[in-house]
Amino acid sequence: MSHALMGGGKRFRPLFFISMIRDPSKQDAAIDIGCGIEMVHTASLILDDLPCMDNADLRRQQVTTHKAFGEATAILAAISLLMRGINIISTVEGVEPQLRARLVEIISSAIGYEGLAGGQELDLNGGFGQDNIADVEQKNWLKTGALFGATAEMAGLLDNKPEEQRIALKAFAGHIGSAFQTMDDYLDTTGAASVLGKDTGKDVGKSTMASRLGPAEARSAYLEHLRLAYGLLPHCGIREEEADVMLKSVFQIMPIEAASA
Ligand code: IPE
Ligand code: IPE
Ligand code: MG
Ligand code: MG
Ligand code: MG
Repeated sequence: MSHALMGGGKRFRPLFFISMIRDPSKQDAAIDIGCGIEMVHTASLILDDLPCMDNADLRRQQVTTHKAFGEATAILAAISLLMRGINIISTVEGVEPQLRARLVEIISSAIGYEGLAGGQELDLNGGFGQDNIADVEQKNWLKTGALFGATAEMAGLLDNKPEEQRIALKAFAGHIGSAFQTMDDYLDTTGAASVLGKDTGKDVGKSTMASRLGPAEARSAYLEHLRLAYGLLPHCGIREEEADVMLKSVFQIMPIEAASA
């Protein structure tokens, strides 16, 4: 568990979560919930790297968990991280029990067949060639966007934002997630493992934004998602300048100035 979790990573999801909380009295809870979300995400990476999935050797600049400890231990570590993450969210201090239950409901839906697991199934067994770009966008929304959307929904509720801001925030996060997976697909074909800290070329034979559109159009789709996200930002009730700095740092590898202008 600690090999996978503490090995590095951008910590984008917890940073994103914490950046959406303005109420100072909720900061401690936000950090705990952010850690829970990162554990859930890390569990998904352990599983994604297994030989039966992407069969990857490198993750977060070190060997993958199953390479270091064997597949059985990797699967058990993933289940344990997943449940530990949910456990932290379900018991977090300073949050009403009813809201804690709602947060668990939101994140558990985003991980299962209606979200991450469903998207992973499509990614692995959805076939190549029959699907159009809308199918790829839908798959990306499920496997990556849904957790971002859940993160935003949870932040909106924890911060007690008005409904219109929560709706804008969820849509904003969905576009961030789609941009993020599009960038990831692009980098799988063009990036270097030494820079990314994980294997590249793992999407061969899969339908991705990069394989369906080619690099130039995939880049345009990426910028379009970010442009739409930036258009929503003023309506989300979050600190816009901080969000801008965070997004520019996460997306620095594919500069987004054109989308945020
Ligand atoms: C990798 O996520 C999986 C995708 C959704 C593309 P990250 O790129 O956020 O991985 P870490 O957390 O930085 O290792
Ligand atoms: C995985 O997508 C998304 C997850 C939900 C784990 P990828 O398979 O493209 O992620 P990387 O490139 O291995 O990080
Ligand atoms: Mg994968
Ligand atoms: Mg992978
Ligand atoms: Mg990838």
